Amino acid sequence: MNHYTTLDPNTLDQAEVHRHLLSAVAPRPICFASTINTEGEVNLSPFSFFNVFSTHPPTLIFSPARRARDGSTKDSLNNAQQVPEVVINIVNHAIVQQMALSSHPYPKKVDEFKKSGLTPIQSKQVKPPRVGESPASFECKVEKIIPLGDRGGSGNLIFCRVLLIHIQNRFLDPQGYLDPYTLDLVGRLGKNTYIRATPESLFELESTGQALGMGVDQLPQSIRLSQVLTGNDLGRLGQLSQMPPATEINKLQESEVIQKICRQGDLRSKRLKLHRLAQKILEKNDPMEALRILMFADQL
Ligand SMILES: Cc1cc2nc3c(=O)[nH]c(=O)nc-3n(C[C@H](O)[C@H](O)[C@H](O)COP(=O)(O)O)c2cc1C
Repeated sequence: MNHYTTLDPNTLDQAEVHRHLLSAVAPRPICFASTINTEGEVNLSPFSFFNVFSTHPPTLIFSPARRARDGSTKDSLNNAQQVPEVVINIVNHAIVQQMALSSHPYPKKVDEFKKSGLTPIQSKQVKPPRVGESPASFECKVEKIIPLGDRGGSGNLIFCRVLLIHIQNRFLDPQGYLDPYTLDLVGRLGKNTYIRATPESLFELESTGQALGMGVDQLPQSIRLSQVLTGNDLGRLGQLSQMPPATEINKLQESEVIQKICRQGDLRSKRLKLHRLAQKILEKNDPMEALRILMFADQL
């Protein structure tokens, strides 16, 4: 049985709500936003309240919140209101320290490109420059800004329509798309924690294509209530589109490994051993063979 702490945000102060939300909604991608004001002063700041929300039209949204300290608005928001153009640069591990430096609250006139030592490259369709070191940058037009309040912590959603995409060629895969294995992307979690998407930390979930998974509810009770199988194991089995045919299940009687398991112990221990074997086969990514073994165990 899981135990929970249940919180009502209306009874917490803003800092507590901030902590809970940012620890749970993670890891978040980082938008390194370059903006400019009417006086031509450039600003570069990171924002992890950020994501892609539409690809037609291509739309990214980030949110500079009002400062918790005094409810004042951030330069990036003020700039986007004055000159509705932004370049959103992607952050990988190679520029994470310079990104952190750019988040320091420098006065309005200070150009964070200079402070961080990052290279400004003239954009083609908008005024703010892009970050030369970023693996990818998006020149955007600000379509609208939706303020969510006027207190410290209130967000301001900046809707950015992508006009132009720049990608460093060395991060492209042979098909011409950004390669997650070479990008070395960074995301923000709760407190001061970050995550680095190194090749070892990446994993892939098999796409079942058009085939609809039959669902965990279609598995017999002895499998669903297994003492061995985890939720992930059941989820993997439920992604199969159908049960194995009876002939294939019966054929397992001929397997030496299965015969050996079935020679010793009572029914419960035979089933446990067969479930463990099925779990190993699931780890080797053969869910249909695992299900055959589990169905065989069910029919013992
Ligand atoms: C990784 C990272 C993510 C951040 N995300 C946000 C965010 O989503 N919203 C926000 O208001 N501030 C965020 N900040 C803080 C701003 O970057 C910081 O307040 C910055 O000084 C704002 O600059 P500006 O006033 O020049 O716009 C983040 C800081 C870091 C280091």
